[in-house]
Amino acid sequence: MVWNFAAGPARLPDAVLARASAELFRRGDDGACQIERPFSSQPFRALREHARQRLSDLLGLPDGYRILFLAGGAMQQFSQVPMNLGSPARRGGYVQTGYWSRRAMNEGAAHLPVVALVQPEDGGQPALPEDLAYCHVTTNETADGLAWPSLPDTGKIPLVGDCTSDFLTAPLAVEKFGLLYASAQKNIGPAGVTVVIVREDLLARSPDTLPGMFSYRRQAEANSCVNTPPMLALQLSVMVFDWIAEQGGLPAMAEAGRRKAALVYGAIDASGGFYRIQVAASWRSPVNVCFQLADNGLVEHFIDEAEAAGLYYLRGHPQLGGLRASLYNAMPEAGAAALAKFMVEFQRRWG
Ligand SMILES: Cc1ncc(COP(=O)(O)O)c(C=O)c1O
Repeated sequence: MVWNFAAGPARLPDAVLARASAELFRRGDDGACQIERPFSSQPFRALREHARQRLSDLLGLPDGYRILFLAGGAMQQFSQVPMNLGSPARRGGYVQTGYWSRRAMNEGAAHLPVVALVQPEDGGQPALPEDLAYCHVTTNETADGLAWPSLPDTGKIPLVGDCTSDFLTAPLAVEKFGLLYASAQKNIGPAGVTVVIVREDLLARSPDTLPGMFSYRRQAEANSCVNTPPMLALQLSVMVFDWIAEQGGLPAMAEAGRRKAALVYGAIDASGGFYRIQVAASWRSPVNVCFQLADNGLVEHFIDEAEAAGLYYLRGHPQLGGLRASLYNAMPEAGAAALAKFMVEFQRRWG
């Protein structure tokens, strides 16, 4: 078997690829397949409603939230959040936990004054200034391999979450967020669509002057169709939502994830320091296992030999180096087991 451990775009479930091959480009009675239809057509509206309903059911979405399916990726949200939720007298608070929270803050700084918030090492509450328009967290730092063990309580200040890499990998307390977003290419589907879930009262904050495409309020009013939505990505994402439901929903994803992560972290912890991890145990990401070799000179050997063994895309984030195994929902346990076995054998040869 050959396994793809890419951090994103990442592996899709085998069953979804099979269903997509059979259904995606099949024309219906109207002479059109889904991507050939107007987005005002009944079949497209039915698809969008199915996506919304499935996602609501998977998340147990509380009342008072709207789901938007937008284009532009998570990085567009780095700007869209301050454009919509910011106000001249308030700052954007960004808890700094790693690479992606830093990028979110730097992009936000183009739109409003920002303040870097420090996460106490013991996992306690970050101190929050009173003049915040929102408090932004990255629930899972894809490049650094760390995840919040539990979300902070930000009181009246809306909590904004970049949930891009752990969305749908475990049950999520949506009610703690004012807004959360996730681009698709890890656990939702192919790149091109971004899920935004926003508390309805925050829609009033979108300034009238914002272009419609960037306005959460106008996108909510238009059912995510201010302009042509990413049809193909949405259609595939629906297939992924259906697949997750068939597997037993988010509790089943979390349980499978725990087993996969235990295999790879187990190989690291049993290596006596041959493999190393910088992240504190309680902050380890269940989906992005980032690790180093004590002898950095072995990294290229590791990559080459892993590929020869059918284990691909294990190189760490280009800015941070090291190694990274991404174990999203679509990675079967057999893939994690194959990697753990390879790691033990590699250590036997080179340790
Ligand atoms: C946590 C996180 N935020 C944001 C992004 C950027 O996502 P996009 O490429 O969809 O803009 C990524 C991409 O890997 C990510 O992992």
